[in-house]
Amino acid sequence: MVNPSPASFWTQANALLRKNLTYQRKHIWTNVRLILVPLFLCLLLLAIQKVLDSLLKSISDMSDCGSNAGLLGVNCAIPNPPLLPPMLQIPQDELRSVKADFFSYRDLPDKSCRVTGSCPVTILVTGDKLSLGKALSANIFTATSFVVNSSNLLPTLANNVLGSTVSAGKDNYEDPGFGYDIPIYSIQSSCSANSTWPLSIGQFHADVKCVQGLCLWRNNSIEVNDEIYKGSWRGNPAGMTNEVAAAYDLMSTDRKNFNVTIWYNSTYTDDLRVKLLRVPRSINLISNAYLKFLKGLGTNILFEFVKEVPKQETKNNQDIASMLGPLFFTWVVLLLFPVILTSLVYEKQERLRIIMKMHGLGDGPYWMISYAYFLTISMLYLITLVSFGSAIGLRFFRLNGYSIQFVFYFIYLNLQISIAFLFSSIFEKVKTVTVVAYILVYGTGLLGSFLFQKLIESESFPEEYIVGLELYPGFSLYRGLYEFSQFASRGTGMKWQDISDSGMSEIFYIMSVEWFLVLIVAFYIDQVFSSGKSPFFFLVNPFKKPSSLPRRPTVQRLDSKKVFIDMEKHDVTQEREKVQKLRNEGSTGHAILCDDLKKVYPGRDGNPPKMAVRGLYLSVPLGECFGMLGPNGAGKTSFISMMTGLLRPSSGTALVQGLDICKDMNKVYTSMGVCPQHDLLWETLTGREHLLFYGRLKNIKGSSLTHAVDESLKSVSLFDGGVGDKPAGNYSGGMKRRLSVAISLIGNPKVVYMDEPSTGLDPASRKNLWDVIKRAKQNTAIILTTHSMEEAEFLCDRLGIFVDGGLQCIGNSKELKSRYGGSYVFTMTTSSEHEEEVERLVKSVSPNAKKIYHLAGTQKFELPKQEVRIAEVFRSVEKAKSNFTVFAWGLADTTLEDVFIKVARTAQAFIPLS
Ligand SMILES: *[C@@H]1O[C@H](CO)[C@@H](O)[C@H](O)[C@H]1NC(C)=O
Ligand SMILES: *[C@@H]1O[C@H](CO)[C@@H](O)[C@H](O)[C@H]1NC(C)=O
Ligand SMILES: *[C@@H]1O[C@H](CO)[C@@H](O)[C@H](O)[C@H]1NC(C)=O
Ligand SMILES: *[C@@H]1O[C@H](CO)[C@@H](O)[C@H](O)[C@H]1NC(C)=O
Repeated sequence: MVNPSPASFWTQANALLRKNLTYQRKHIWTNVRLILVPLFLCLLLLAIQKVLDSLLKSISDMSDCGSNAGLLGVNCAIPNPPLLPPMLQIPQDELRSVKADFFSYRDLPDKSCRVTGSCPVTILVTGDKLSLGKALSANIFTATSFVVNSSNLLPTLANNVLGSTVSAGKDNYEDPGFGYDIPIYSIQSSCSANSTWPLSIGQFHADVKCVQGLCLWRNNSIEVNDEIYKGSWRGNPAGMTNEVAAAYDLMSTDRKNFNVTIWYNSTYTDDLRVKLLRVPRSINLISNAYLKFLKGLGTNILFEFVKEVPKQETKNNQDIASMLGPLFFTWVVLLLFPVILTSLVYEKQERLRIIMKMHGLGDGPYWMISYAYFLTISMLYLITLVSFGSAIGLRFFRLNGYSIQFVFYFIYLNLQISIAFLFSSIFEKVKTVTVVAYILVYGTGLLGSFLFQKLIESESFPEEYIVGLELYPGFSLYRGLYEFSQFASRGTGMKWQDISDSGMSEIFYIMSVEWFLVLIVAFYIDQVFSSGKSPFFFLVNPFKKPSSLPRRPTVQRLDSKKVFIDMEKHDVTQEREKVQKLRNEGSTGHAILCDDLKKVYPGRDGNPPKMAVRGLYLSVPLGECFGMLGPNGAGKTSFISMMTGLLRPSSGTALVQGLDICKDMNKVYTSMGVCPQHDLLWETLTGREHLLFYGRLKNIKGSSLTHAVDESLKSVSLFDGGVGDKPAGNYSGGMKRRLSVAISLIGNPKVVYMDEPSTGLDPASRKNLWDVIKRAKQNTAIILTTHSMEEAEFLCDRLGIFVDGGLQCIGNSKELKSRYGGSYVFTMTTSSEHEEEVERLVKSVSPNAKKIYHLAGTQKFELPKQEVRIAEVFRSVEKAKSNFTVFAWGLADTTLEDVFIKVARTAQAFIPLS
């Protein structure tokens, strides 16, 4: 079969696309479920909306807006707000200002008034003119009897200065000062003892209690400030509270100008909107006093009532989507991030990506196809969200321009996918990445809602900082959704002309730039980390010819132990000389040429560095199968990993078809096949689909592809009975193994690495597999590791025994056996009294025989080959049989296993313990 040329970018992309389509078709429900998530969320919103609507409706049905106008003011129309008498906020009895050690003022009342509950309400007055101040002070409170004119209540309330110790309510449609069991105070210049009057307004009854109002002069506003400050319980060392009701600074007021500053305590309630209810009375008090001062005591400004503006009914049709606001939709959109990220990292963790790469899938097609897939899924997800959201009537989606929404989501989703690619280049484990991604999703939403939104809404936070925060993609998403919800709740929706006012244009700009930057960085990191390129690979001049075959002088290091071993291993030395010769000649004919390949793992936790491969020389021509034997941990896997591009050699290099594995690994991949130790297969794809995919990657097309796949399936006996059309997940271990071998051989690669291809196979399948490999090797160089000596003998043209990072010997199995075996093993079992006779017999045939085993009549001897003639052995045994009873005997040639054990033992004995 003619070898196809390496697959082009589009062929690879096509192969991956077809594989992914097949794969996704089998996981169609996973995809559909994902796309339908927004539908479920929308239905959930709809359900909540319905519940909320009916709840609000029942509340407004229950309440009678007429009488409970105040209570349910939020919902009911209040066409005629009640008139409320203006009251002054006064401190409670026991907190009113009295003489104290930390005050120097003697004009305050004595502490004893607190016991009797008769402390006056103090008002401080200051200003530029003492006399004016004193005159005004005298006019603030008057002494009147509290007379209730029941036919006209308002003037009564207006003429008397009423005060309350209860703070104002939540809204200005009612005054909690008028409550049952709460005294109302009438503040007068002096009170006769126990003066209280009953007050009845309709059903409401309360006692009006007289309290003395005391106006005290202070020299300047600093003193007033100081006194008020010290009067609060935190302000003085004694922790004693000395509160005043209000304070006035008259400043430059004279007969022509009235100029006054008023102190009032704003901490009575946290709600800024309600202070007005209690503050107007203090303004009226001082203005009235000034008017009396100018025009005489008879003049009066009546302050009859305060009244809130009438109010329309607050509509109950709260839009739940706008209420949940950007937080909810931020989560919905961000939810895609973990999905994409875990899927990317999964392919990396399960090494599916690298195995595809080893069979020639370039990074470009991989990125393009994966990106396109995620973008499609994401867009479908968002389209579902927006269309169902609009269908159920969410204003969030309905009102905002669809083209703006499309552009916004499109850019954001691209950015999100790029970030997922970036993360997937950094993370290795699905578990870690899942945790990180979900923390990011929830953290972003919560931070957005509880911090970022506050900052956007804050007047004082500079706009540039907001833009700075939007550099974090989660916040730009949040900002966009926030703007959408703002425009939706305004009832207009966002149009293209609004985008510059709303900060949306900056978001578009930021996200687009980030999208490209992140994509570039992600690709770069991916190249450096997973493709093992140098961090500065892009600096390499692409026009420079690769310096073909650098010739390094080989320095022979002389270290006594090494020389000793090297003397024994002249086959290894020969191989090295051959490699050096080939390299010096610049020959590219050999399929595999390893030149002083080394791998050193750096020492960790105080351990010395580990030499996994110590300077390996090896040449494997086309058509040869090279078997690598060696005990576990000898470095075989490190060697294969270097050859397949999983690991970078610490020094030295290897040429595959004349291409340097350190420089041109991507080209090497196009003519390489790998059968890894652990099967790397997609559970849901069938054997045929696997082969079709890898076949396409190897640039086989059309009918020759079908043919090649059929042949391949037949060759590993997966064709009959439609086994090849069953999902690989259902295969037995042996079938998976055979499929892996078939994958490694499809497309006639020039170089194939097989890591223990026949483990776990029954003898029949194994034989079958060997035939496949034998047939395949005609035009291919195969490097095979195995623990089965039988397999090595059957398949391999040459063998190398690899111990502790180095080849101990190289040669075909016959050579090895004769070199390292060189003896027969003679075994004989007799009854124990004849043991000496057996020994004598052996010595007669072979004087240099060595006894290697002895137990209860069974003895084993090693007979050097050169002095033994087999015929003689038979003859002697026949003769011996007539003398004594021989239960069993045998003569065996050395097996490869003996060679292996011997080589491994001797080599390890010489290895320094470092
Ligand atoms: C009560 O108010 C009415 C209406 O303003 C007024 O005519 C009447 O004189 C007042 N009565 C007293 C005792 O002030
Ligand atoms: C306020 O001023 C008056 C007169 O100028 C003075 O007698 C008095 O000591 C001053 N009070 C304080 C607390 O400084
Ligand atoms: C203001 O009112 C609060 C609440 O009643 C009180 O705790 C605080 O001491 C008052 N401050 C002053 C300066 O009187
Ligand atoms: C009121 O007093 C303040 C502070 O002394 C002064 O700046 C302001 O001009 C005065 N206003 C009038 C109208 O006199």
